[in-house]
Amino acid sequence: MSGLLGVFFNFCRTSVRGVRLKMKVHLLLILAVCLNTQYGSSALPDSCSYPPSKWCSSLHSAVQCGVLKQCLESNFTRSHQTADPVRVELYYESLCPGCRGFLTQMLFPTWLMLSDIMAVTLVPYGNAQEKPDEQKYIFLCQHGEQECLGNMIETCLLNMTENAFYTIFCMESSNDVIKSAKSCVEVSSPEVSWDKLMTCVNGNQGNQLMHQNAMKTKALNPPHEYVPWVTINGVHTEDLQNKAMNSLFTLVCSMYKGTKPPACGSSQRHYKSYCHNE
Ligand SMILES: *[C@@H]1O[C@H](CO)[C@@H](O)[C@H](O)[C@H]1NC(C)=O
Ligand SMILES: *[C@@H]1O[C@H](CO)[C@@H](O)[C@H](O)[C@H]1NC(C)=O
Repeated sequence: MSGLLGVFFNFCRTSVRGVRLKMKVHLLLILAVCLNTQYGSSALPDSCSYPPSKWCSSLHSAVQCGVLKQCLESNFTRSHQTADPVRVELYYESLCPGCRGFLTQMLFPTWLMLSDIMAVTLVPYGNAQEKPDEQKYIFLCQHGEQECLGNMIETCLLNMTENAFYTIFCMESSNDVIKSAKSCVEVSSPEVSWDKLMTCVNGNQGNQLMHQNAMKTKALNPPHEYVPWVTINGVHTEDLQNKAMNSLFTLVCSMYKGTKPPACGSSQRHYKSYCHNE
């Protein structure tokens, strides 16, 4: 455990002020299920051909995947959430080890569990620098050109799909962030065409989007001193940063003003979505 925490504190320090990028991740949920024996049906349902994140996106997917009841409940709960979600922004760069550790081992799993009450914004840029060059910008990254490429792929993904976080998680958790990009896109964001993504990465659009990340990062107050740099509801303090690094999950549950979801430990409801041995 101390090894893991060590990774989280392996910040990439710099005196440079960076930028940021943003994006909004909506979504998803429900952990569960295969065969729902509660319905008393002995027939096997059609096999479920949707990822868990899409199970509740339509009646068809909910029925096919045997989670209709859970989806109706979850939709009901969600539509009755009155409090604002806790906004978590991460300022990072694609090849910084501490960023990869935090994103893959803390932020992503927390978001999977608490997506109903938290909104994540990813801003890949971190300690990079930009220089204007005619109509464009030239970017210099702390971990070299490959890092700039990783930042750009992630930035374009964030612009092109609501599923970007899954793909970014896939990239950041693989051996080689850049080499894994294509297969991660194919598996986690199949709706994104690789060619269109590369057009963004190599073109003006990516350049402008990265400039927006730069401006967002430079606007941080206080300015970031290292990455991963976290803001909670737009605020960065040493205390919030430490809490986020140690247990973002606990922090988000405690900061959420509305009714706490079952994942926060508030509910003693009986879990019903098991796959029974028949
Ligand atoms: C859950 O809510 C979403 C968004 O409001 C809706 O599109 C979807 O059909 C609902 N799912 C079910 C199973 O009712
Ligand atoms: C994607 O970027 C374009 C500008 O290049 C912007 O107009 C659009 O709103 C962005 N879309 C999202 C979902 O961020």
